[in-house]
Amino acid sequence: MKILSIETSCDETAIALLDITGPLEKPEIKVLGNSLISQIALHEQYGGVYPNLAKREHQKNLPILLEKVLLQARSYKLEASDIDLIAVTVGPGLEPALWTGITFAEELGKKWGKPVVPVNHMEGHVWSVLYHQKDSLKLPALALLVSGGHTELVHVRGFGDYEIVGKTLDDAVGEAFDKVARMLGLSYPGGPKVSQLARAHRNAGLEPSFTLPRPMLHSGNLNFSFSGLKTAVLYKVREHGEIDEEFRSEMSRAFEDSAVEVLVEKTRLALEKLRDTQTLIVAGGVSANTYLGQKISEMTTDFPNLTLYIPERDLSTDNAIMIAIAGYVRVITNPSMIDTKESLIARGNLSISSQSDQ
Ligand code: KG4
Ligand code: ZN
Repeated sequence: MKILSIETSCDETAIALLDITGPLEKPEIKVLGNSLISQIALHEQYGGVYPNLAKREHQKNLPILLEKVLLQARSYKLEASDIDLIAVTVGPGLEPALWTGITFAEELGKKWGKPVVPVNHMEGHVWSVLYHQKDSLKLPALALLVSGGHTELVHVRGFGDYEIVGKTLDDAVGEAFDKVARMLGLSYPGGPKVSQLARAHRNAGLEPSFTLPRPMLHSGNLNFSFSGLKTAVLYKVREHGEIDEEFRSEMSRAFEDSAVEVLVEKTRLALEKLRDTQTLIVAGGVSANTYLGQKISEMTTDFPNLTLYIPERDLSTDNAIMIAIAGYVRVITNPSMIDTKESLIARGNLSISSQSDQ
C-alpha cells in the first residue's frame, strides 16, 4: 500500500511516501520519499513555538516538500497516480498548524482522487518503532510516550485499541526540559542541550551538590507531575544568582536525574500492574534522551520476557514516516475508513484513547 503522509502538528513540516505491506506485527516498510523542514531556528528567537508563525511556515513548506518527495519517488518509477491513500495528522497539536496539513491533504485527495485518512500524532509516535524493528511485535504492549506536549503511559491492548493508564497532571516532560533549559540560558528547544550537559557532568565522575524533588514518585498511581520540579529548579536558579558553566551542568544533571527516575519508576509500576505486557515502547521526542534509554533498559532486566523498543533518533522526534505507518495501522484495522467521505477536523487535544470514536 503506497501511503503519502503529511505531518504539521507543531514546528516540523514533513511529508513522506512509503510502501507498506504485510502484517501489522511485522510490516515490510519501504521509504520511497521523505523530506522534512524544521522551523526550530525560526522559533528559537522567540523561545517557543508561535502557532500562527508555524502555520505560515507550514503553508510555505508543504508544496516544496511534496515536490521533493515526488521527485525522490520517481527514482522508484512511481507517480502520484500510484499512491493508494493520503494520511494526515489531525491531532493532537497546534490547531492552526494542524489545519494547514489537513487542508493540503484534502486538496491533494480531491485533485488525485485518493482517500484521505486521519492520523493521531501520538499513535504515530507509538508505531514509529515498527520501522526498525526486526522481530514480530508482541501485544499487549505498554507505551511510555514522552514529548513536548505529552507524558503518557498507554496500555496498547491491540492495534487501534489504546487506554491511557497514566499521564501528567501539568507539564509534559519535554516541556519541563525546555523550560529548565530556558532558565539556564539555553535556547529552544533546550531538551537535547540540557541532556548533553547532564551527560558531560555524569561522565566527569561528578555528583551534584544538591538533589531535586521526584514529584509523585510514591503516589502509588501512574500519573506524573513536572511543574513542581520545574519550580524547584527556578528557586535554585534564583538562589544561585549569576549562572556559570559549572552551575548550568550541575543543574542539568540534577534535573535529568530526577525526571528520568520518575519516568522509569512509573513505567516499572505500570509493568507490575499490567503483568501480561509483552513489549515496552518508549517513543516521542524525549525518547531520544540517551540517559532515559539507558535507565529504562536497565529497569527492563527485571522483566525477562519483555521486549523493549525505542525508535532510532531520526524517528523519535516528529516526522512523516511514523504518520504513514500509523495510517497503515488505521486502515488495516478499520478498512471502511477508506470510503469515509467526511471532511477532517483538526483536534488540538485529541486523545490516543479516543481512536475508536473518530
Ligand atoms: O515529539 P516531539 O518531536 O514533538 C512533540 O510532539 O512535542 O518532542 C519534542 C520534545 C521537545 O520538548 C524536546 O526538548 C524534547 O522532545 N527532546 C529531548 C531530547 N530530544 C528532544 N528532551 C530531552 N533529551 C533529549 N535528548
Ligand atoms: Zn511529537
